[in-house]
Amino acid sequence: MRIDILTLFPDMFASPLDFSILKRAQTNGVVEIVLSNIRDFTQDSYRKVDDKPYGGGSGMVMLCKPMFDCLESVQKQDARKGRLIVLTPQGKKFDQQMAKEFATEERLIFIAGRYEGLDERIIIGSEAEQVSIGDYVLTGGELAAMVIVDAVVRLLPGALGDDESSADESFSDGLLEYPQYTRPEVFRDMKVPDVLLSGNHAEIEKWRRQQAIERTKKNRPDLLK
Ligand code: 6GU
Repeated sequence: MRIDILTLFPDMFASPLDFSILKRAQTNGVVEIVLSNIRDFTQDSYRKVDDKPYGGGSGMVMLCKPMFDCLESVQKQDARKGRLIVLTPQGKKFDQQMAKEFATEERLIFIAGRYEGLDERIIIGSEAEQVSIGDYVLTGGELAAMVIVDAVVRLLPGALGDDESSADESFSDGLLEYPQYTRPEVFRDMKVPDVLLSGNHAEIEKWRRQQAIERTKKNRPDLLK
């Protein structure tokens, strides 16, 4: 998969992309992530990327021209058309289902907005989908892009090792994940549940499912509806 990210702050992505699974996935050729700086596509001496909103109001709005010049340059870099996503709190809410869908694409192009938002004609003219990561406001789309890239890349074939399967984790069956324990058997008077030491795989399976249901009921009753 190729992932393009259009941003005013490409440096923000260096560290999140440079560790662990995301780093390995790039090294192994599972994913190629390309950052493009929208400001590189300005033509004036101020390198202006935003302006005041028509109709008044606070904040600034991102300009159409540098964004479209950047997007068209990025699109030309690869024959795959890709799915175009604008990150905005006004978007459809991202979830594991959407992550799975994105993971089937051969290319994803993300636009990370800043300031009060983008000129609406960027969204209309590019026919981008609008996606949000939750009901709160971030200072820009960059962190949202990183969240989505992380959730998607780990689902790509070859991204996880054999001992890191994504099949039985939270949300994969509509439930939160069951509790996990590792050594030692007792830590500060807290004991590992007997069933996990029993070696009885049917009983362990049953216990884990019960725990998953209980935990979901308590923390995320909305998932059970
Ligand atoms: Cl995608 N962008 C911004 N600025 N804030 C958000 C968001 C996106 N998703 C949730 N909050």
